[in-house]
Amino acid sequence: MSKALDHVKILDFTHVQSGPTCTQLLAWMGADVIKVERPGVGDATRKQLVDVEGADSLYFTMLNHNKRSLTLNSKTESGKEVLERLVKACDVLVENFAPGALDRMGFSWERIQELNPRMIMASVKGFGPGPYEDCKVYENVAQCAGGSASTTGFRDGLPLVTGAQIGDSGTGLHLAFGICAALLHREKSGRGQRVLAPMQDGVLNLCRVKLRDQQRLKAGPLKEYSQYGEGIPFGEATPRAGNDSGGGQPGRILKCKGWETDPDAYTYFITQAAVWEKICDVIGKPDWKENPDYATPPLRLPHLNEIFGAIEEWTMTKTKYEVMEICNPLDIPVGPILSMKELAEEPSLRETGTIVEVDHPERGPYLSVGCPVKLSDNDVVVERSPLLGEHSQQVLSEVLGYSDEEIAALREAGAV
Ligand code: COA
Repeated sequence: MSKALDHVKILDFTHVQSGPTCTQLLAWMGADVIKVERPGVGDATRKQLVDVEGADSLYFTMLNHNKRSLTLNSKTESGKEVLERLVKACDVLVENFAPGALDRMGFSWERIQELNPRMIMASVKGFGPGPYEDCKVYENVAQCAGGSASTTGFRDGLPLVTGAQIGDSGTGLHLAFGICAALLHREKSGRGQRVLAPMQDGVLNLCRVKLRDQQRLKAGPLKEYSQYGEGIPFGEATPRAGNDSGGGQPGRILKCKGWETDPDAYTYFITQAAVWEKICDVIGKPDWKENPDYATPPLRLPHLNEIFGAIEEWTMTKTKYEVMEICNPLDIPVGPILSMKELAEEPSLRETGTIVEVDHPERGPYLSVGCPVKLSDNDVVVERSPLLGEHSQQVLSEVLGYSDEEIAALREAGAV
């Protein structure tokens, strides 16, 4: 079966997490992704957080499936020549170097357009144009600069970063979207273009409901935030709201049976207005249906602590899975807090390819995430990440037409 992007060749100059997330997604959609790495060094993550001595780390393997690895020192003269030929042969160059690194290498956007006007050049940077455009940025810096940290955590605690890698993997996803749009546009225009995904912009895009709340503050307190019911005044900026639901339907994380010893024995419980009466019955408070304090959603807002306190008394008598089994048939929206261990062992996620087991010559079998977007005509078989330089010979001869002698000379010169 042909794949969505199997006509697309990607020159993958990415490293660490943000860029590799993007090119891994494109590889899963069928693109031929040629990952360019420094000879003898490679992507720094190969040797970060090592758990099996001598083997590529999980950090690297889980971000670089279905790619080919070509080692190339693009700062040597012959390495530059190889890179020029690659630019001419590929459709998209993806990079997430520190600002200016590609220019310093001699491959500015102007030079790339001269070499291949159809080339799409896609970059992740920490910030877009402005006062911080020259800064190096990692995940947590982006979470802080994009509004996530100031709005995550509890009101009386520190700003918090979240475990979801919204700065790196999130921006990689945004970049992949931009590349696909530019590829479609190229079909009409015949020209490539630049695609830029700044991490700050990506995080802010994912935090838009907090920017919404910033503006709603002008109209008065945010009544769905717990602090409203607690009588605590709002300041000038969107506050941290603990586990309050981000939408108009109040929700909380509540203890379930076993919470004293199991750090994940909790459920998320949403008091959706449409099922309020069913909630009253389930928790054994049928009289609440007639209670004038609780009759409508606006009347309930000042009493959320009291309401969730009563619901929690009920959830503490059930496991998180029992809460799910009881509430789901009644259309009450709840969700168990699932640990990574539980997710890794969940059979249905294996069946859909959302979690896959991959074999690796250096480290043996390991688990990884599979493609999170499913296309009916794009069956994704997750292939292990390449060893450093595993495909150098293959790419140089097949893609660029180098002879064995020429490749030997490049090796001799330290270019590959
Ligand atoms: N051949 C020769 N040189 C190479 C090379 C190759 N194949 N691949 C990389 N290099 C060089 C670069 O040209 C650069 O050289 P320079 O500093 O002389 O210009 C050097 O290696 C280091 O690259 P850099 O990107 O600066 O890496 P770093 O480890 O210092 O910084 C980041 C890492 C992630 C902080 C930085 O790349 C960055 O801010 N990237 C953009 C934002 C981003 O993606 N952050 C999230 C990462 S998950």
